[in-house]
Amino acid sequence: MNPFVSDHAGDRMPAPSTITIFGASGDLTRRKLIPALWDLSRSGHLPRVAIIGCARSQKSDETFRDELRDGIRAHARHSFDEESWSTFSRHIYYVSLESYDHPPSYERLATKLSEVEQQLAMEPNRLFYLSTPPRAFAPAARQLRDAGLVPKDSNPYARVIVEKPFGIDLSSAQVLNHDLLEVLAEKQIYRIDHYLGKETVQNLLVFRFANGIFEPLWNNNYVDHVQITGAETLGVESRGGYFDHSGILRDMVQNHLFQILALCAMEPPVNFSADAVRGEKTKVLQALRPITKEDISSRVVRGQYISGSVLGRNVPAYRHEGGVDPNSLTETFVALKLFVDNWRWAGVPFYLRSGKRMPKKVTEVAIHFKAAPHRLFGSDTFEESAVPEASRTTPNVLTIRIQPDEGISLQLGSKVPGQTMAIASVSMEFRYASSFGVAAPEAYERLLLDALSCDSTLFTRGDEVEASWKFITPIHEAWSTMGGGPAFYSSGTWGPRESDELLESSGRRWRRP
Ligand SMILES: NC(=O)c1ccc[n+]([C@@H]2O[C@H](COP(=O)([O-])OP(=O)(O)OC[C@H]3O[C@@H](n4cnc5c(N)ncnc54)[C@H](OP(=O)(O)O)[C@@H]3O)[C@@H](O)[C@H]2O)c1
Repeated sequence: MNPFVSDHAGDRMPAPSTITIFGASGDLTRRKLIPALWDLSRSGHLPRVAIIGCARSQKSDETFRDELRDGIRAHARHSFDEESWSTFSRHIYYVSLESYDHPPSYERLATKLSEVEQQLAMEPNRLFYLSTPPRAFAPAARQLRDAGLVPKDSNPYARVIVEKPFGIDLSSAQVLNHDLLEVLAEKQIYRIDHYLGKETVQNLLVFRFANGIFEPLWNNNYVDHVQITGAETLGVESRGGYFDHSGILRDMVQNHLFQILALCAMEPPVNFSADAVRGEKTKVLQALRPITKEDISSRVVRGQYISGSVLGRNVPAYRHEGGVDPNSLTETFVALKLFVDNWRWAGVPFYLRSGKRMPKKVTEVAIHFKAAPHRLFGSDTFEESAVPEASRTTPNVLTIRIQPDEGISLQLGSKVPGQTMAIASVSMEFRYASSFGVAAPEAYERLLLDALSCDSTLFTRGDEVEASWKFITPIHEAWSTMGGGPAFYSSGTWGPRESDELLESSGRRWRRP
């Protein structure tokens, strides 16, 4: 199935299926997964399904349904109505587990699945979603195998979606891959990165490969550098304890920003099959020039927010957040200078930055093209007031905004009306919302529908995850051995001064989105 065919061009309807969610008493199930299934159902994209929640908490089917109803009311795109709910909730069940490693619990689950499949006269077409903390991933997969629920060669084959984080470093990711591959075939494992479910992330591929005019420019002959930004205004909220052991390099860069980087830098795949697309993405990650202890200080900046004001609200320092060590050295901001050492991108820096408590929530990719080879008009013809200085040196910037206000803009130099040859920077804009007039579906809707359709193109492959950790882990190792800590930045700013210096040394400058 071609995942890049829009729903307008060809609706798809996967076969009836059961969806079993482990960790179903948790936040993700209530806030994202069930609302996504509800929205798919309301938009007519969900096949006949039965949903079975599994977790250690004891509760009845009824209590579980009530909790999900509240989650839908609060978080779904489509409004709630009793009639649709009564149809949707009819086949939602709850099976409590003694633990995620308890064989009799899985026997009960197997019995429930068979009952439901018989009742609904459906094939054993099974999707399992591991929405637990990572330590339960491998035990749950093993128990599923032992209970005969995920045979490797069944048709349709049983699939297992695995939530993030997929490891905390290279060796833990390798161990998790190894443990999962002992009980499942690679084609059964769906490692989720919800960024890949976002419309605008997928549009990066459509933009590049469905338009003839950009690809000839998409290389080191024309591109000066690329900036990828993932900025949040939020701090750590209620996740201080988790985040303090993770840091933003693990939480945002290793997964989400690297996925964007890979889509942006990859070669055209031979087709849009899962293996062709993921193969090309993996090659980009494998081509990243390693960061060594010797060059870490010139290629990586880490920061941590102190108190300040964000969107007009005073906010505390990271070290004063709940669950955070008051002497924490965890980074809440990171900026990196990367090189993709291959034929297409030789010598082109990719600057990535991600931070919390930034002035604005924005995720975007900005392709900065080289200046025209000859300055026919000279830099003094730029109208000083109208043009930021950075634009005078990099007049063409193509920006793909992933969130919010999804769209694409191209910055051009244009003549200012009047009797002189003054030039100003102008922008051509495409906005998703105004061009299509419909709200984009949530990332989890797309990814659940893909998994129901046995389409793993937008899920990460084992070698791809390991390639990203292979690059990231030496940075953590260098930080832990070299001492020192993050540079501080005030909340509501774009990170520490050192982040600007990362670009200024080569005459470049971060965009201010
Ligand atoms: N929430 C989000 O927005 C979000 C976003 C991206 C990724 N994720 C990932 O998605 C997964 C689920 O997220 P969540 O927010 O729903 O997590 P959660 O609420 O912490 O956990 C989900 C469920 O797992 C069970 N659980 C908790 N601790 C456990 C442990 N030590 N061992 C075994 N089971 C345990 C609990 O159910 P019982 O005690 O009833 O068994 C809990 O209700 C996590 O891997 C998380 O990293 C979450």
